[in-house]
Amino acid sequence: MPSVLFVLTSVDKTLTGAQTGWYLPEAAHAYYTISQQATVDFAAPKGANPPVDEGSVKDYANDEESVRFLNDPVVKEKLAKTKKISEVNVTEYDALYYVGGHGPVIDLPVDPDNINLIGQYWDAGKIVSAVCHGPAALVNAVDSTGKSIFAGRTATGFSDEEEVMVNKVKDIPFLLEERVKQLGANYSKAPEPWRPKVVVDGKLITGQNPASARPIAEAILKALAAKE
Ligand SMILES: *[C@@H]1O[C@H](CO)[C@@H](O)[C@H](O)[C@H]1NC(C)=O
Repeated sequence: MPSVLFVLTSVDKTLTGAQTGWYLPEAAHAYYTISQQATVDFAAPKGANPPVDEGSVKDYANDEESVRFLNDPVVKEKLAKTKKISEVNVTEYDALYYVGGHGPVIDLPVDPDNINLIGQYWDAGKIVSAVCHGPAALVNAVDSTGKSIFAGRTATGFSDEEEVMVNKVKDIPFLLEERVKQLGANYSKAPEPWRPKVVVDGKLITGQNPASARPIAEAILKALAAKE
C-alpha cells in the first residue's frame, strides 16, 4: 500500500492573536478518501496533537466526515502520534499532503525542517501536494538547483479574493496567490470563489480551497496509482 504523510501546522494563533490551526474538512475529507487506498500518518513542526482551527470545527459541525474525523479513535491515536517534521525520513512516504488553515502560512514556510523535507521529497520524484493555504508551506522549498518548486509550474491555492472575503489579510504574513505568482508560478483558480479547483503539474498537486479537499485526494490517489 502506498503511504501519504499529512503535514499540519503547530501554530494556534494568527498575527492578530486570533485562534487558528489546521482546517478540519481539508484533513477529514482527504483522509477518508486517501485512507481507502493508502496508509496515512501525520507530521507537524512540534509533533503530537497539532491544534485544529476551532472556527472550522464550528463551521463543519454538520459535516459527516468532519465530525467523524474528530471522534474517530484511529485518527485520535494517529494525531497523538503526530511526528515532528525533523523525524521524518525521505524513504518513509510516497507523498506529502499539506492541509490548510491560517496556521500553515505562519510556521511551515519558514520552518527549516519543513523546507528541507519538501526539497528531499521533490528531488526524490515524490508527490508534493497541498490544499487551500497548504501551498504556503511550499513557498521557500527549492529543488536541487536552488530553484523554487513553483517556478514555471501551474498551481493553485487560496486566492487573494477569498482571503479578502474572509477578512484575514492582516492575520497572515503574506498573500498566497501573490507569493506563488512572484515565485514564477502560472497561478490558476476556479472561475468563482469557493468552487473546487485542483491543478496537477507533474508531481506538484495543488487545490484552491476547502471544497477542493476531496478532489485533490482523488488526484493524489490517481498519481500514486500511476507510479506503481
Ligand atoms: C497556465 O494554466 C492554465 C490553466 O489554468 C493553462 O491552460 C495554461 O496552459 C498554463 N500556461 C502555462 C504557460 O503553463
